[in-house]
Amino acid sequence: MRKALVTGITGQDGSYLTELLLKKGYEVWGIIRRSSSFHTGRIDHLYKDPHEKPRLRLIYGDLTDGGNLSSIVSEIQPDEIYNLAAQSHVKVSFQMPIYTVNTDALGTLRLLEALRSMKRPAKFYQASSSEMYGKVVEIPQTEKTPFYPRSPYAAAKAYSFWQTVNYREAYGIFASNGILFNHESPRRGETFVTRKITRAATRIKLGLQEKLFLGNLDARRDWGYAGDYVEAIWLVLQHDKSDDFVIATNESHSVREFLDEVFGYLELDWKKYVEVDEKYFRPTEVDFLQGDAGKAEKLLGWKSKVTFKELARMMTDADMKIAENEKILADHGR
Ligand code: NAP
Ligand code: GDD
Repeated sequence: MRKALVTGITGQDGSYLTELLLKKGYEVWGIIRRSSSFHTGRIDHLYKDPHEKPRLRLIYGDLTDGGNLSSIVSEIQPDEIYNLAAQSHVKVSFQMPIYTVNTDALGTLRLLEALRSMKRPAKFYQASSSEMYGKVVEIPQTEKTPFYPRSPYAAAKAYSFWQTVNYREAYGIFASNGILFNHESPRRGETFVTRKITRAATRIKLGLQEKLFLGNLDARRDWGYAGDYVEAIWLVLQHDKSDDFVIATNESHSVREFLDEVFGYLELDWKKYVEVDEKYFRPTEVDFLQGDAGKAEKLLGWKSKVTFKELARMMTDADMKIAENEKILADHGR
């Protein structure tokens, strides 16, 4: 049975990837941070039969603690390591640059060092990001497009990208980067723009909220579905050699277009409810992202499946269920 170690298992991608790995028969070890309250909501459904020997195990750890990462890696001796953990919010990275770099840049290095001391080093996947293209120098962006990071988050991810390449070249470790463009789902964190919109629109529809405050509506992103993207993550480590791959839908849409899709689906006019609040602007913005996933298609046989419209509707349907439950509680004065 193959053993995978997943950092960031409690996050959006960690939960979908773990589902996929368990389906494929892996034993999965996930690193979770100690917290004063439970935060395993995205993976709780994966513990099905209490009598079965669990193939999913959680272990406390943190990317800021190198000693802890070394002992975890040496105790578990995984075959594959998926490094998904990060302070992943771009706007927050301007408020917490040092912490973001400690986790998203040095955290990767700590993990790579832990892996380098293994007798048989695990294969390593690094969650790289389209944010590294920042102020883009060409459209669409491929594996060959130079980076121009525009936030502490993006600069930290660029550092981790190059460390991963360097461990591959210097030590012959199977270390690969997936350069993933934005991907969303009903499990997306509620402060990212798509989920913020689907949560608010469904609450507005049911009379639970009046306004939605957003930042830059002109930003364009290449938005795909997280469920499709974790298949690509797995395929990156199954390829015959380590390499770097862009994972994207090859389409770009604006925040306005996402508003059109979601509010239109709910038969609402978003212009009546949305207000722009400068507090959500970023000191430096990434205006336009559009990937070219041609290499992944050719070498991994991967292609994005869920369309922009389907994604918007899937997230709206899921959030409508949450809003309906909120409404029942509100109607009963709870
Ligand atoms: P997410 O939902 O924000 O999840 C981040 C995960 O990292 C959570 O499990 C979080 O744990 C964990 N984490 C944060 N700081 C940590 C630390 N110091 N030590 C250990 N764990 C820590 O992110 P996601 O959307 O699933 O993204 C997964 C990865 O892909 C991230 O590295 C992100 O930067 C990258 N990425 C995401 C996208 C995207 O569009 N989603 C695109 C490109 C790249 P808690 O639950 O305790 O907070
Ligand atoms: N979060 C947020 N909140 N973004 C807003 C808002 C708002 O109220 N209003 C407009 N936006 C704009 C942002 O300025 C940005 O241009 C765009 O919507 C997308 O913002 P996010 O959803 O926060 O995502 P992101 O593109 O900054 O970062 C995400 O994708 C990256 C891949 O390109 C994150 O998941 C990163 O971790 C990931 O690397």
